[in-house]
Amino acid sequence: MIGIGVIGYGYWGPNLVRNFMQAAGGRVIAVSDLRPERLARINEQYPTIMATTNFREVIQHPQVDAVVIATPVTTHYELAFQALRAGKHVLVEKPLTATSGQGMSLIEEANRRGLVLMVDHTFVYTGAVRKAQELIASNSLGDLYYYDSVRVNLGLFQHDVNVIWDLAVHDLAIMDYLLALRPHAVSATGMSHVPGGPENIAYLTLFFDGNLIAHIHVNWLAPVKVRRTLIGGSQKMVVYDDIEPSEKIKVYDKGITVKNGPESLYRMLIGYRTGDMWAPQLEIAEALQVEALHFLDCIENGKQPITNGESGLRVVNILEAATQSISARGQLVHIYPGRLAA
Ligand SMILES: NC(=O)c1ccc[n+]([C@@H]2O[C@H](COP(=O)([O-])OP(=O)(O)OC[C@H]3O[C@@H](n4cnc5c(N)ncnc54)[C@H](O)[C@@H]3O)[C@@H](O)[C@H]2O)c1
Repeated sequence: MIGIGVIGYGYWGPNLVRNFMQAAGGRVIAVSDLRPERLARINEQYPTIMATTNFREVIQHPQVDAVVIATPVTTHYELAFQALRAGKHVLVEKPLTATSGQGMSLIEEANRRGLVLMVDHTFVYTGAVRKAQELIASNSLGDLYYYDSVRVNLGLFQHDVNVIWDLAVHDLAIMDYLLALRPHAVSATGMSHVPGGPENIAYLTLFFDGNLIAHIHVNWLAPVKVRRTLIGGSQKMVVYDDIEPSEKIKVYDKGITVKNGPESLYRMLIGYRTGDMWAPQLEIAEALQVEALHFLDCIENGKQPITNGESGLRVVNILEAATQSISARGQLVHIYPGRLAA
């Protein structure tokens, strides 16, 4: 039985506690939050869990083998680093850290101590994203042309990060899992509509080798909730609508064919192909349950998580580059592994 300690019991922490309580092979031993009213909830819901305002009591607890961190982004590094130094495996909320330097430091510390470091890129563990990955990996879509996502709603304004560190991180994590290629440059624009507040709307364009392109549109100030991604390939196209209750993934056998015209070698003829649409069956298990079991399995069997520290760092690299680009009003910023250059 692997003992779990959770730091942060605000909005997301309770989902993690519930899922680790339900996961075979794991047991939540201790939870910490700075707010006593959140701890009162723990005592009410789970009287067997130790609740404390002091995170050190979680990290140092002898029955805690792994620490799950669900606190604001700017605190991830310090808490994760201290947990690793205490010899505990770590699952940290997205995004891994607030800077790429911090991300590299966590990876080094985890490697040095032979500990599991995993980041909660939740969507990677959904049936929908796993199905999209199967379709792409089996080459059903053909050559990939674009990834185009809209993730907007009247969202909770965060204080310590802007909208890309809160919402675009989901798309970057999904792309990191789905695509064989990594983006090499980003151009991003964004705006704040709250005086002194972080950007609440942003547009990111990501460039890859070849003709693959990605666009991500995120917004905390939209009147409706949209979570829709189009993935276009030369053979088929996927529409992934996370708001749909069951048919979240639809595969369209649509596309174009390009031929030279008979009268001139240089005149292209575009033909349109419209075939069937189908909605594949998806696994319905809760993503966080799949993820909790994966984390426990990695600890038990010394495996690397699908969303390991490196994947968390790749996402932070892009977020940093995009932040730099927003400050320069959309200037193209190159993305290098582990460091940045304009
Ligand atoms: N994976 C997802 O889909 C998803 C969804 C929402 C939030 N998140 C992530 O979860 C993290 C937390 O977000 P949230 O919305 O729950 O924030 P929140 O503000 O609602 O909760 C954070 C909690 O952490 C506590 N805290 C802060 N510092 C602490 C410390 N040193 N010791 C103990 N407790 C401490 C705060 O008191 C607060 O209750 C963020 O990294 C966010 O990006 C992920």
